[in-house]
Amino acid sequence: MTKHFVSMKDFSREQIFEFFDRIAYFESEFGTNKNYAKFFISMFFEPSTRTDLSFQLAGKKLGLNFLNFDSMKSSLTKGETFLDTFLNLDAMGFDGYIVRTKQDGFFQDILPHLNSPIINAGEGVSEHPSQALLDAYSIWKEFKRIDNLHVAIVGDIPHSRVASSNLDLLTKFDNKVTLFSSFLLDEQKYPGINIAQDYQDFIRDVDVVIMLRNQYERHSEKIDPVLFYNKFCLDEKKVKLLKKEAIIMHPGPINHDQEITPGIIHHPQSRIYKQVQHSIPTRQAIFDYCLSK
Ligand code: CP
Repeated sequence: MTKHFVSMKDFSREQIFEFFDRIAYFESEFGTNKNYAKFFISMFFEPSTRTDLSFQLAGKKLGLNFLNFDSMKSSLTKGETFLDTFLNLDAMGFDGYIVRTKQDGFFQDILPHLNSPIINAGEGVSEHPSQALLDAYSIWKEFKRIDNLHVAIVGDIPHSRVASSNLDLLTKFDNKVTLFSSFLLDEQKYPGINIAQDYQDFIRDVDVVIMLRNQYERHSEKIDPVLFYNKFCLDEKKVKLLKKEAIIMHPGPINHDQEITPGIIHHPQSRIYKQVQHSIPTRQAIFDYCLSK
């Protein structure tokens, strides 16, 4: 059976712990022994720095070869459908696909037709499962657990696939999750989740605060950057209210002096670059999961 990696919804708690073991293995010095010698195609229909390059670096450490799909030079520009594109790539014998897309639900029609695994590298506003997994691993490394924690997600929540996949993962475990959103949330979509109106509602109690940028590319209306900064920016004053052992995370890219001040990025409680470090063994573990029998 083809093992895709498209949504955190597909994985049980036990499988997430299996992923943590796999990630720890690749993080250790013994983690470079595997040599898959397979061919992947990297298909990014939205820009990326971290996800694209860390998947390629992680894959190369496992002996994978990559070709990059250039949609502007492809026959998509001549009206070929995505499904026909994938059927042709599958017929060529690619061993796997890394795909970032603007379209929610992109994978539903394609998955049943493929012989090789698809890895979801970001899908619309709904899924970014590899980011959620590396975030969870970063939390687990810090606290030696992934339950009984209070995690706050702050910023542009409805337009963030990172928020969505993190919610999928964190709510599989017994965690308290608080959302502090710059856009009005439909509370019915977030059962069991605390919706905060102000930093004062959660800042002294949280173990983890995940900051999100404004996803300007998905906004239909302009937001006032000054109002956003005044209410949502995580600065030195607010960080002083955190517990000493609490950590600050951000998936990147960062908009300096919007959701976070530059000094906080390198604050002793920030784990932002730890997340980036963990992206390599996490993505090695994802390849290993998809390619192992
Ligand atoms: N975190 C993340 O998805 O970053 P990129 O958009 O640079 O891949």
